[in-house]
Amino acid sequence: MARPMRVAVIGAGPAGIYTADTLTKSDTPCEIDLFDRLPAPFGLVRYGVAPDHPRIKQIVHALHRVLDQPGVRLFGNVHYGRDVRLDDLRAHYDAVIMATGCERDRPLDIPGIDLPGSFGAAEFVKWYDGHPDVPRHWPLDAVHVGVIGAGNVALDVARVLAKSAEDMLDTEIPDDVFRGLVGNRATDVHVFARRGLAQAKFTPLELRELDHVPGVEIVVDPADVEFDEGSMAEIRSSKQTQMIVKTLQGWALRDRQDEPRRLHLHFLRRPVEVLGTERVTGLRTERMQLAGDGSVRGTGQLTDFPLQAVYRAVGYLGSHVAELYFDHDAGVIPHDAGRVLAMDGQLVPSVYAVGWIKRGPVGLIGHTKGCALETVGSLLTDAPGLVPAVYPEPSAIVDLLIERGVEYTSWDGWLRLDKHERQLGESRGRERMKVVSRSEMLDVSRSQ
Ligand SMILES: Cc1cc2nc3c(=O)[nH]c(=O)nc-3n(C[C@H](O)[C@H](O)[C@H](O)COP(=O)(O)OP(=O)(O)OC[C@H]3O[C@@H](n4cnc5c(N)ncnc54)[C@H](O)[C@@H]3O)c2cc1C
Ligand SMILES: NC(=O)c1ccc[n+]([C@@H]2O[C@H](COP(=O)([O-])OP(=O)(O)OC[C@H]3O[C@@H](n4cnc5c(N)ncnc54)[C@H](OP(=O)(O)O)[C@@H]3O)[C@@H](O)[C@H]2O)c1
Repeated sequence: MARPMRVAVIGAGPAGIYTADTLTKSDTPCEIDLFDRLPAPFGLVRYGVAPDHPRIKQIVHALHRVLDQPGVRLFGNVHYGRDVRLDDLRAHYDAVIMATGCERDRPLDIPGIDLPGSFGAAEFVKWYDGHPDVPRHWPLDAVHVGVIGAGNVALDVARVLAKSAEDMLDTEIPDDVFRGLVGNRATDVHVFARRGLAQAKFTPLELRELDHVPGVEIVVDPADVEFDEGSMAEIRSSKQTQMIVKTLQGWALRDRQDEPRRLHLHFLRRPVEVLGTERVTGLRTERMQLAGDGSVRGTGQLTDFPLQAVYRAVGYLGSHVAELYFDHDAGVIPHDAGRVLAMDGQLVPSVYAVGWIKRGPVGLIGHTKGCALETVGSLLTDAPGLVPAVYPEPSAIVDLLIERGVEYTSWDGWLRLDKHERQLGESRGRERMKVVSRSEMLDVSRSQ
């Protein structure tokens, strides 16, 4: 190709941005346009990572450097499937890479799950992270709260619910989130893991962090500390599991403290039913026992926990990506080393996938780098055979967006919003305060 290869990346989260980074570092000259349906970039780094994890939010600086290069453009507030379709992208680019991530809760099919007072973690996370598309009021009137699941999202949700609002005040949370948290009445947050200590999916750092939350006591029932042969094998083979088990055992053995709030970590308790008629009044759980290989089986022994709210943090799920075949159970785009597959298993020419929409909702931000390497490797291998874009001039896609009346945001627009949010934060002695409303984000980003 006599001109640079033109690539459209749909989704400006870590996977999309690391894909752009990998492409710009390759020997093949490339021009990359990233599209995101949100007016701001960074995906779950901005709208998933907990606000009290500023160290992780700093990854934004590395992602920022990738977007701040010639040859990489950002088009925010552009919804693939609505504002642009696959044919448009194929006409303007030589290749299209889907990096749309996973944004909703995996369903938990138990009776009572739809009662008022039962929430998905993803929605709560979006609320406290100031996502423009969720209602700005969150009911925090429950005194005893349940969180189902034993992954890092469950820990985030439980920690935010257990923390005092004042301890969130130095973060980037918007004012309405702070006001909501001030009204939080929770004194006891119960996390329910359906398997044992050695099967928990927490990471050691995030688990140990709980013990440093001011005013919160961590409670682990010694009766929950159980291991089978499968657990022992897991502990022997994984340093991470060793650390998690050691931390949890330590908490189970120590004397009770006298803190104003408690975070209870329950193991071997399967959620059976969210109780209540008008709204949530509790959670029925079944005691599980380890089966020998690290899996669990029910004992039939039921325990009801009186609770006024239940959050399910049982994993995220990807949403169907317009015009592509989708595996609805796994919530992913079927692929072969990043090359998107059609329903009949054939390759969809010039379309690729990367990140959580390719691999499913598991793994840290850093893991999307390796994923990007694989997808870009496939694309570069295929490059000589790709059907060239009909309208490869960089201005052509801009003309199309303008013609369609799409109020897109740009990299310069993000720099304006970034500066504005920092100034808002500064006036309150904080590093940043997020702008939440989409229209305000657009006004600031699109102002000249
Ligand atoms: C609550 C939570 C907290 C987390 N905290 C951490 C943490 O502390 N540390 C860590 O290492 N990892 C953390 N992770 C994991 C990390 O966020 C993921 O590994 C990573 O974000 C996945 O990247 P991605 O680019 O595939 O998806 P995403 O980050 O979800 O990015 C996808 C992007 O695609 C855009 N998009 C979707 N559909 C469209 C469309 N139709 N048109 C245009 N754009 C679209 C979205 O707006 C989004 O910006 C967390 C995950 C969650 C759920
Ligand atoms: N600070 C951080 O680094 C951070 C923060 C948030 C998220 N993340 C990452 O983001 C990814 C997603 O995290 P996640 O917490 O959403 O997912 P996850 O790690 O897969 O954890 C999901 C949890 O839900 C449980 N679960 C699933 N179905 C269930 C059911 N029907 N009933 C009861 N429990 C059920 C799982 O139990 P089983 O194991 O028994 O299936 C597991 O404990 C992970 O890789 C995580 O590490 C990282």
